Formats: sequence, C-alpha cells, structure tokens
Amino acid sequence: MIQFSDVKKTYPDGTKAINDFSLKINEGELVTLIGPSGCGKTTTMKMINRLIEPTAGTIYINGTNINDYNIHELRWNIGYVLQQIALFPHMTIEENIAVVPEMKKWKRKEIRERSEELLEMVGLNSSTYMHRRPSELSGGEQQRVGVIRALAADPDIILMDEPFSALDPISREQLQHDIKKLHQEIRKTIVFVTHDIDEALALGDKVCLMKEGRIIQVDTPQQLVLHPETTFVKDFIGERKSPWQTAIDVVAGDVDSRVITKAAYDKGDYTEQGTFIIKDEDDKFVSALVNGQLADDFIVLKNNMPLYKATDELQKGHQEVYPVLKQDRLVGTLTYKDVLSYLRRETAAKDGVIQ
Ligand SMILES: Nc1ncnc2c1ncn2[C@@H]1O[C@H](COP(=O)(O)OP(=O)(O)OP(=O)(O)O)[C@@H](O)[C@H]1O
Ligand SMILES: [Mg+2]
Repeated sequence: MIQFSDVKKTYPDGTKAINDFSLKINEGELVTLIGPSGCGKTTTMKMINRLIEPTAGTIYINGTNINDYNIHELRWNIGYVLQQIALFPHMTIEENIAVVPEMKKWKRKEIRERSEELLEMVGLNSSTYMHRRPSELSGGEQQRVGVIRALAADPDIILMDEPFSALDPISREQLQHDIKKLHQEIRKTIVFVTHDIDEALALGDKVCLMKEGRIIQVDTPQQLVLHPETTFVKDFIGERKSPWQTAIDVVAGDVDSRVITKAAYDKGDYTEQGTFIIKDEDDKFVSALVNGQLADDFIVLKNNMPLYKATDELQKGHQEVYPVLKQDRLVGTLTYKDVLSYLRRETAAKDGVIQ
C-alpha cells in the first residue's frame, strides 16, 4: 500500500509542482495518473522512490514512512520505467535486465531464466535478443525491455512513466494487453502515468486525474465516466476516441436486482420467469438461472472487452443480460439498454448538450 499524506513539492526555483496531494493506493491495485503536461505526474512518481524529496507531507509504503527504509532496499523493491528509454547502451539486453537481480545477489542461472521468461512474455525471442545491445533494437523493442527490466527482480511496486509513448498504436495496444494480463496474474501495485485517457481508463482499477499539482478526481473508470465531478474532468473524458472502443465495465450497469446471492438461491425457490445471475459471497460469478432453470453455458464477458466486440455478442441474442467479470468477480451486467444509454450520453457529451 502506498499512501501520500498532504504532500507538497516546491522546486528550488519556486515552481509549485505538487500541492495538497493525498492519495491511497491499495496493495495489488493499478492506478493510472493522468493530466496535462506539467501537472506533476513524474514528480509524484519520483517521490515514491525518493528520487525527489517532498517539501512537506509524508509518503508511506505499507504503513512505514519511506524515509525510514534503507534507500537501496526501497529502490530495489520498486521497479521503475522511466519516461525516456534509459537502457545502458554499452550493456547487452540480458545485462540490462540483470542489473537489479544482481544487486539483490540472485544466482546466475536464476537471472538467466528470469530474463528469458520476461523477454518471451513481451514477444521478444530470447535467444535473438539477449545478446544484442540497445542500439540494435527498435524504439518500441527498447521500450519493452525497459518495461521488463523494471519487473526483473520481482519488486512489490512498479512505477511506469508513459512506458508506451514511443510505440505505434498496435504495439501499444499489445503492450497494454500484456500489462493488464500481467497485473491480473501477479497482482503487483502499479502506478502508471499516461497522457492518453483511453489508456488510463482501460488499464486503471482507479484513475487519478491531476491538474496543476492537485488531484481533481480519483475514481474507478466507470465512476469517472458516469459521474465526472467538474467540467475539467468532462472535457478530459470527452477526448476519448470512438465510444465503441470503451471497455464494457464502463458501459455496464451496476449489479442490480437481477443478481442474487448463492445463499439466497440455495434457500429460495426461484421459479420466476426471466434471467437471474447468481454470485457467491466473494462476488464471484456462480451461474445463471433462466426461467427457473440453471443455465449450463451462460455467456460471460470480460470487463476490458471493447464495446464493439460486446455488441457482436449481444446481437446474437442468446441472452437478455450478460454478466461482466473482472477475473471471476462480477462487476456489472450488460444489456442493450446499457449500451444505448451509454451511446446516447456519449453523443450528447460530444455535441455539447448538457445532461
Ligand atoms: N527540477 C525541476 N526544477 C524546477 N521545476 C521543475 C523541475 N522538474 C519539474 N519541474 C516543473 O514541475 C512541474 C511538474 O513537472 P512534472 O515533470 O512532474 O510534470 P508531468 O506531469 O510529468 O509532465 P509531462 O506530462 O510533460 O511529463 C512542471 O511545471 C515542471 O516544469
Ligand atoms: Mg512526466
């Protein structure tokens, strides 16, 4: 857990980069920081691993003031992908990846295996790339190595400052997908800076929107889109690409009366017409009941599926409602009505109609 408590940063020349900054990032959460250039995103990141000291306030990691940690141990446990690609030019890719594992005194064999595994994970053939130098890689490939280098020594926290800025849209989407998958698998705490609202909404469990060193709104992507608190937030949200690209957890309705708990189902006598979705006490999807019968192959949708893909599924017309799952947890339900009201809202926002 990372906690900022009333943090301020004023640079020696008087620039007030960060003000009244209080934010809690839970363990295993992926938080995206977004805001205009110069709003203080990089400054915020660098304060976490003490590359920059705050002027006032305190930052805690797992309840301990970061100043109370040994600075080397603190940094080894925080993977950092810099805003500019910063591989060591004279070292091979393998050596670049091995820097922190070596400091942590990992065994040679472990380091080699880890490097191979990470390269393969981002689609770089390890036997081809391990022995090359950064100048022998394309910009996008270097960025991928920058990302996996930050993961190499298995840190608890990963900071990523616009890690995909030099990538074409397709590689970018591929890497976003990799990060999302990776985050689901390893459940690390990740702070991810981006300029791109689509990226912020697609990746973040929470999105923290900043302006001039302050937090304007921090919320789930769904809340941010549905309930922007200020016109600044609305304008930012309005910069998204086509609404069809939106992830469906933003479009989906809240878990509603169609959802029943397993306990209630076990007790009750559900013979009613219509569809009911059954979840357990941990919000995990269990099954669905259609006209009183348990459905065997009820279709569920993943929360990060783009709307256009979900619409294909809806058009098949197999179900009146689709559970939206984040991993196996139920985060919402999707119906045609949700899609229509979302598109209506989007169009109204684009046309400047006030809702
Ligand atoms: N060393 C420094 N000395 C003085 N001012 C600085 C210094 N570093 C950053 N700043 C200023 O602090 C503010 C925040 O900078 P920061 O780099 O955190 O912004 P950012 O949100 O990361 O921007 P970008 O999206 O362009 O990367 C800016 O006004 C910047 O000019
Ligand atoms: Mg920056």
